[in-house]
Amino acid sequence: MNALRMPDDPLRRHFADTLPAALRERALARWDTHAPRLFAALRRTYADAPAFDRALHALVAGMAACAGERSDALHVLDDARERDPRWFLAADMLGYSTYVDRFGGSLRGVAERVPYLQRLGVRYLHLLPFLCPREGDSDGGFAVRDYDRVDPALGDDADLDALTARLRDAGISLCADLVLNHTADDHRWALAARAGDAHHRDYYHVFPDRTLPDAHERTLGQVFPITAPGNFTEVPGLGHVWTTFYPYQWDLNWSNPNVFVEMALTLLRLANRGIEAFRLDSTAYLWKRLGTDSMNQSEAHALIQALRAVVDIVAPGVLLKAEAIVPAPALVPYFGSGDAAGHECHLAYHSTLMATLWAALAERRADPLRAAFARTPALPVGCGWLAYLRCHDDIGWNVLREEAAGNATHAGFDLARIARFYAGAEAGSDARGRAFQSASDAAVHGTNGMTAALCGLDAAREGDNDDALAAAEARFLLLHGLMLAAPGLPTLYMGDEIALGNDDTYADDPLRAGEGRWLHRPAMDWATADAVERASIDGIATDDSADRIGTALRHMLAVRAAEPAFRGDASMRVLGFDDPAVLGLLRGDDVLVLANLSPRDVAVVPQGNHALPLDGWCDLLADDTTTHTLPATLAPHALRWLRRIDMNTARA
Ligand code: GLC
Repeated sequence: MNALRMPDDPLRRHFADTLPAALRERALARWDTHAPRLFAALRRTYADAPAFDRALHALVAGMAACAGERSDALHVLDDARERDPRWFLAADMLGYSTYVDRFGGSLRGVAERVPYLQRLGVRYLHLLPFLCPREGDSDGGFAVRDYDRVDPALGDDADLDALTARLRDAGISLCADLVLNHTADDHRWALAARAGDAHHRDYYHVFPDRTLPDAHERTLGQVFPITAPGNFTEVPGLGHVWTTFYPYQWDLNWSNPNVFVEMALTLLRLANRGIEAFRLDSTAYLWKRLGTDSMNQSEAHALIQALRAVVDIVAPGVLLKAEAIVPAPALVPYFGSGDAAGHECHLAYHSTLMATLWAALAERRADPLRAAFARTPALPVGCGWLAYLRCHDDIGWNVLREEAAGNATHAGFDLARIARFYAGAEAGSDARGRAFQSASDAAVHGTNGMTAALCGLDAAREGDNDDALAAAEARFLLLHGLMLAAPGLPTLYMGDEIALGNDDTYADDPLRAGEGRWLHRPAMDWATADAVERASIDGIATDDSADRIGTALRHMLAVRAAEPAFRGDASMRVLGFDDPAVLGLLRGDDVLVLANLSPRDVAVVPQGNHALPLDGWCDLLADDTTTHTLPATLAPHALRWLRRIDMNTARA
């Protein structure tokens, strides 16, 4: 099809007319490929909305303007990524997630630490919210007052532009949160709504009385049942506003097409500043439907597919990542389903796998993990999981309710016991986490704490007990080794590379004291980070657990980066073993990941017919290059990454 052809399509003509001549051919080719999906998704959602036609014209004009404003450097990136849509699933991709202030003090401080990230092997940096937040408490920046301005406490717009350029030069893609579900209550739209502006009141879900809120509440869940119970907030002079999260986070009314246009163009403006990936915050909640939990509705998927098409037309180098902390069956549709398979998000947090890793460690059994991996389907080309162990949020146990009930492949488990285990309140637990938003020991919601604290390292350090320390280190490395061996793009949480512990000082800050998640949002300890780096470069054994963990982790990262079977989209097969504590995963054709989830020695006895050859295995994590037979036993919490060597080649 000739992209310069002007069929009688007024929107296409409108788009073409607004584009700079130099871009027209390429942009129209993208339009012809992706616009049908964009309009199908929008028509499906908004056909009956009164302002739809006007909104469509505003969208198209805005898209053309953003295409014209995109820099040459970003056009180059767009072209390269269109040619290689699997770029972010390379084996040497590594993510890192952190708050700007906790890591570098400011955006400039983060820029100064780029060499540190490069040495760690980071290629994808998720900086938690850095756009202008609400005055006062802002849920760690997740209540945005102005999406087009940097948080003045962290820097200015020029600092962001300098940072994205520096990261791009370093081969690191910047990922930013795009808080789609809500704005702050002091965003200009919210202020206008409060002031009586009907146009902007329609940007939110506002009810005159409690009738509909009460009807919705009957089937809604609660994200913060203790600190922000209920899903609606009464705002004097306005009415009852839908607030899924904190009362100052006003849910946007996505059934209004103007909201779609505003947020789509916000995304493009940010993309033009060099942000290469967007974490679509709270994607599951975008569409509300009476009589349901108003999560994962088909319209929410259509809207994300429409956003994806906008990106594919104007900024195809950009990645969309779903933050939908929902049970496994509801997760896969965030990559698109049916005709839209592969046309929604590029990435989605594998929250089920994350929570199962922790559950399996507490349960001392691998069968829940076998089931979680087995339920992790291969994805459409150009899609991948975001694999992670910890992040700035709690470990939410609710995603595992179905798994906890047990089924034919694994016995059930008690989530409340697991939450108590990580709070150190069960016999045999030296974990130092804390329950989050749980009303009692029997109730279960989430668990807070850094990996080091949850694995028992904090406790072992205090007790000065070498055996306890070694056991906690083994657990720490086991979980990281499994996360890094899982399909997808693995992402480290800041501080885990030096086994940083909990931060209790948040309790002294009145603005944060009521929010338990600050327990695992410590400031980076740069003295330790520098020492760990030196120790790992020198390769000299030290008696410091941060050094040992840091060195071992860096080694794993280097091995992963060089092993094609660890590509994010390489195949994965779960193998059966007699002992329920043994996990076996085959990545690609030749790499075997073996793990013991228990604190006892276990025999490695393959089940059934997976015909693993007994000899010819090379231990990827050991320094020797000799071949071994398959291990007959695994030590407590041991992890192996083994590669099968072609014996004929090896002997030749
Ligand atoms: C996401 C964020 C979380 C925040 C919530 C509301 O889940 O990860 O930190 O509280 O959205 O914006």
